[in-house]
Amino acid sequence: MKVLVTGGMGYIGSHTCIQLLEAGMTPVIFDNLYNSKVSVNERIQRVTGQSVEFVEGDIRNKALLVDTMKRHNIDSVIHFAGLKAVGESVAKPLEYFDNNVSGTLVLVDAMRDAGVTSLVFSSSATVYGDPASVPITEDFPTSATNPYGRSKLMVEECLTDFHAANPQWSITLLRYFNPVGSHPSGDLGEDPQGIPNNLMPFVSQVAVGRREFLSVFGDDYPTPDGTGVRDYIHVMDLADGHIAALNKVGQQAGLHIFNLGTGNGSSVLDMVKAFEQASGKTVAYKIAPRRPGDIAECWADSSKAETILQWKATRSLQQMCEDTWHWQSENPKGYPE
Ligand code: NAD
Ligand code: WQD
Repeated sequence: MKVLVTGGMGYIGSHTCIQLLEAGMTPVIFDNLYNSKVSVNERIQRVTGQSVEFVEGDIRNKALLVDTMKRHNIDSVIHFAGLKAVGESVAKPLEYFDNNVSGTLVLVDAMRDAGVTSLVFSSSATVYGDPASVPITEDFPTSATNPYGRSKLMVEECLTDFHAANPQWSITLLRYFNPVGSHPSGDLGEDPQGIPNNLMPFVSQVAVGRREFLSVFGDDYPTPDGTGVRDYIHVMDLADGHIAALNKVGQQAGLHIFNLGTGNGSSVLDMVKAFEQASGKTVAYKIAPRRPGDIAECWADSSKAETILQWKATRSLQQMCEDTWHWQSENPKGYPE
């Protein structure tokens, strides 16, 4: 199976390319390198012993997408490309709608022209807004609390309407919870530019000495220790979820929606402790005010994916932290240029 992986140089995309290769599939990466480095591809090759075709391009370039899909006889598309920083999206909503929404529409239009009718889309638990209860199942009401989340919700809605008009397509919406961790080799991992927005890259940069302390955003939430609770999932488990989606429903007409999470909630302080244990380093932190827009707790009911995709997250919190530390300690400045 030949799979076009938009955003394949990025954090989740690169780990998924490795698992595609391990599963005997052929990824072709399409990425504009806006938030990634070309050296990622060398790391994929180092880990798998296989080279991956890379096309440098923007998903808003329809002609290049059509040409790439036809030239490589693409069977399915996994669509990771997009912008993902919540805070930035508040300041730059147009850029987010242009990249994430218009970009996806151009991609689907290009797929139609190239005769490719199987799509897996990177959605997010953010589409559940502030959920009324936990765990969250796929039929919970959706809403958006910021432009990034709205862009994901808009894409889901556009794809739902598109699917209603084109029911022979296979369209899969994967709603990720909180991806963390790295490839166990230590050769690939998350490499945020500038100050990390997400918890675990920040924690690991404190442990490696790049930052002085972590600000814990709020300790007065109605949770066991007062800090926010999330469903952290190992990026390798998440990557495997994409392979399962391609294998089980990727050739099956339908609009398929799945949560990809572990079903367990961990607090910010749980994560700090687990990381200290895995790294043997102290992670200094200070309690800070709540971050605007944050919710108290969020975790998945992933039983639908377990039943239909026969997929289940298996890697522990300890493994997520150990692998993150392996990557961070061996690549303290991230990927080379
Ligand atoms: P990432 O930034 O590491 O990867 C995204 C990749 O897409 C980058 O390599 C970037 O260069 C590329 N890209 C961006 N805009 C592009 C464009 N217009 N044309 C071509 N390439 C473009 O992000 P990630 O963490 O790997 O996330 C992948 C996807 O998963 C995103 O759609 C994100 O919204 C979604 N997601 C991420 C998380 C998370 O916490 N990391 C959670 C839920 C959903
Ligand atoms: C986790 C917890 C913070 C940083 C975001 C997006 C979501 C999805 C995943 C893409 C929260 C706390 C964080 C810090 C902290 N992305 N925290 N200090 O907010 O659950 O989800 O990323 O789709 O859409 O909203 O993840 O890693 O930012 O935060 O105390 O420096 O860590 O308050 O409780 P979040 P996160």
